[in-house]
Amino acid sequence: MTVGVLCAVQGSAESIIVQAVERSGGRLSVTRRCADLTELLAAAEAGLGRLAVVSGDLDLLDREAIDLLHRAGVRVVGIGDDARPWVGERLAALGADLVAAAPQDEESAGSVVRDALAILGSTSDDERPGPVRPDDATVRLPAQGLVVAVWGPTGAPGRTTVAVNVAAELAAAGRRTLLVDADTYGGCVAQVVGMLDEAPGLAAAARAASQGTLDLLSLARLTPSIAPDLRVLSGISRADRWPELPSSSLDAVWSVARGLAEWTVIDCGFCLEEDEVLSYDTRAPRRNAATLSALEAADVVLVVGTGDPVGIQRLVRGLGELTDLGLGATRVVLVNRVRASVAGAHPADAVGQALARYAGVTDAHLVPEDRSAVDTALLEARTLREAAPGSPVRRALAGVAARVDAVLVAALAAEPVRA
Ligand SMILES: Nc1ncnc2c1ncn2[C@@H]1O[C@H](COP(=O)(O)OP(=O)(O)OP(=O)(O)O)[C@@H](O)[C@H]1O
Ligand SMILES: [Mg+2]
Repeated sequence: MTVGVLCAVQGSAESIIVQAVERSGGRLSVTRRCADLTELLAAAEAGLGRLAVVSGDLDLLDREAIDLLHRAGVRVVGIGDDARPWVGERLAALGADLVAAAPQDEESAGSVVRDALAILGSTSDDERPGPVRPDDATVRLPAQGLVVAVWGPTGAPGRTTVAVNVAAELAAAGRRTLLVDADTYGGCVAQVVGMLDEAPGLAAAARAASQGTLDLLSLARLTPSIAPDLRVLSGISRADRWPELPSSSLDAVWSVARGLAEWTVIDCGFCLEEDEVLSYDTRAPRRNAATLSALEAADVVLVVGTGDPVGIQRLVRGLGELTDLGLGATRVVLVNRVRASVAGAHPADAVGQALARYAGVTDAHLVPEDRSAVDTALLEARTLREAAPGSPVRRALAGVAARVDAVLVAALAAEPVRA
């Protein structure tokens, strides 16, 4: 498992330490280079790392700050100053887990990293099982996470089912994932995943964004974790609260979300219409702003339709509408509830042919009708991987998650190695 490192080191030692961390053979990786203590605490609280490397003279660093890091499950390596020995002494007094001299070269930085690994090795009590990543030794963490908007036309094609379960699969694969309910017509993600407390959710995040106070820490506080690596930003509790979600604020929410999560999965509403009557007034709230801003921000749009004649027709039209809106993100098309009773003896062939003919889509994912698995999950307010792990619908949605994640894997491969 790769352990995320938060680096808040000042001066020339910083890049030497970052390089040594990246040479740790995949065991450590720098997830955040923090400019100050506030950024470090926010990143720790957001769960972005389990080890912090901190300069002893970092402004405002005190016992309480180190205590906060510890409570966030982060071990602290303090970097002293040879010219000022009291800096190291103070770090030890403040509660740093390890105090090291500021490294001057590759070799001394390598020894700091080895010592850091040793203190991590002694923390088995607070370690949870590592995520199953495709190849732990070569995994790299993105500087910025990606956004997938789950959209589909009217008729309840299964947007929420897909969003919840794709998010759960991404998280289970070790991706830090944030599931967001941005459906301004009938958001129900909190209920579907069994979040009992009334969380302030997306409206509160949008409010903080409009006041300029939304940062990693405040977004992390608004997004309880419902499983390892899976946070949830719940939606508006009543549909008539949609004016609380203006697109200008949501754009800022998506941007902070990219810092918090490797994947932000957004459950969107069905409607793409822009309120033409209001278009002269750019400040007027729009009911579909949340969906439109999510689609505009998205790196991947997961388009969900149903596998019956009406559903396919709506899906074909919906794909055309997305094109008309000029949304250039990578598209993944998913046909849900595919079944013989409505699509003939070979439903997959029938759906595949219709999509190829009318929408030019030849690589759609087909998800079977699986009433009993979906009902079990809904009844227990759990994800399919928890409630019905061997079910056909779960296996199909795990495949969709892998297809979505391939976009991140490709982006990482193209990203220059961070020094
Ligand atoms: N593959 C499936 N097999 C059987 N039932 C399914 C499947 N996918 C979704 N459903 C069911 O279809 C219904 C609609 O699903 P869901 O709520 O996910 O759709 P939606 O597009 O989010 O709808 P809404 O417009 O209400 O937001 C739910 O009852 C859900 O349990
Ligand atoms: Mg829904």
